[in-house]
Parts: sequence; C-alpha cells; structure tokens
Amino acid sequence: MRRGFIFDLDGVITDTAKYHYIAWKDLGATLGITIDPVFNEQLKGISRMDSLDRILAYGGKETVYSKEEKEQLAEKKNDHYVELLQTLSPADLLPGVKEFISQAKERKIPCAIASASKNAPVILEKLGVTGYFSYIVDPDTLNRGKPDPEIFLKAAEALAVQPQEAVGFEDAQAGIDGINAAGMYAVGIVENEKLLGADQLVYRLDELAIDELLKK
Ligand code: BG6
Ligand code: MG
Repeated sequence: MRRGFIFDLDGVITDTAKYHYIAWKDLGATLGITIDPVFNEQLKGISRMDSLDRILAYGGKETVYSKEEKEQLAEKKNDHYVELLQTLSPADLLPGVKEFISQAKERKIPCAIASASKNAPVILEKLGVTGYFSYIVDPDTLNRGKPDPEIFLKAAEALAVQPQEAVGFEDAQAGIDGINAAGMYAVGIVENEKLLGADQLVYRLDELAIDELLKK
C-alpha cells in the first residue's frame, strides 16, 4: 500500500528542463563548449554546481577556472534561467499534473517535492500549486545529490511515510536511481529518452490510475 507521493519538479511538474538546457547551452557557448541534447540528459537532476563541473569536464576545461570564477559562472547561468522563468504561469503545468495532484488531495495522500533546484519554491508559486505540497525539500540541507537516495528519504520522513509506502516520480536517470536506492516505487516520466530501472513508465501523469498505483 502506498501512502505518499514524492515528485521531482523540473520535467515532472513543469517543463523547466528546457530552460535549464537553454541557459547551460548559452553559458557553454561563451566558454567554447557545445552542449547538445544527448549530453544534456546527464545534467538532469544534478545540482547547479555539479552540472557546471560536468560541463567543464566534458569540454576538457575542468582545471581552467578557480572556485570563485566557477561560482560566478553558475550565478550567470542562474540569472539567465530565472529570467526565462519570469513568464511561467499555471498554463505551464505539464499535461495531467493538476488532475493528478487534485486526485491525490481528494484522497488525502500527502505530496512532497524532492528537487535539486533552489528555485523550486518560486516555480511552484508561479504555477499556482504550492498548496498541493505539504513539504519541499531544501537542497541546501542535503549532504549528497541524486542519485543518492537522501533527498527522497528526507521527503518521506517529512510526510511521515515509510520509503516502502512512497511513490517517487522522476524524469531523470539520476532520480530513478535515487528512488530505487530509497526502496520506493519508481514512476518514470519519459519524453523520447530512455529511463532504466523504473517500475512504470508514462508520458504524462494522468495516464496513471491513481487507485491502482496506491495498491502497488
Ligand atoms: C534539477 C534540474 O531539478 O535542479 C537540474 O533537473 C538543475 O537540471 C537542478 O541543475 C538545480 O537547479 P537550480 O534551479 O537550483 O539551478
Ligand atoms: Mg527532473
């Protein structure tokens, strides 16, 4: 029996993954590093600074910048990303999300957000769905990022459910791996890409029969 839902944000609740991609691609271009959609998959679910480290390593520039310079580069990317978020509105919820979280609310299934993004609270506000989530994990409180299960375990604890009673929803391989390591039921949200190890794959959340899912 499942009693709590734990959602990733970017690529699950809304398609901000495309804005992260634009902002990293533009920053990469200024550094002479070309970021394509295939490499971009490796950045999904990964924290801002870890993403920058991966990009620099990919471009063979891992030793070029000091810590301070890297902080400035990450800030520059975030400024651009936040600019791209300005037009975000409830119309930007991914198809099926509002229906799904409304059904969870009717059934009194508590929902949490387990996102590596420090921008999660503002994004949920802009989407008009803050009230559907009883807890948002603060990524600054984490010791390890996805694929470590820490973020999912913290969310389950806050919802007062056992990991085996939780369902995790993710669009990134690092996230699916984290959900599996936490011992939760993993639902993968796919577009065209592959996700390995998910218990179930869907294109959109309203493909799921919520009462069936709760019996898993
Ligand atoms: C994750 C995204 O949700 O948040 C990553 O999948 C992103 O691409 C990470 O790097 C951190 O986000 P932010 O908003 O704190 O830079
Ligand atoms: Mg995601």
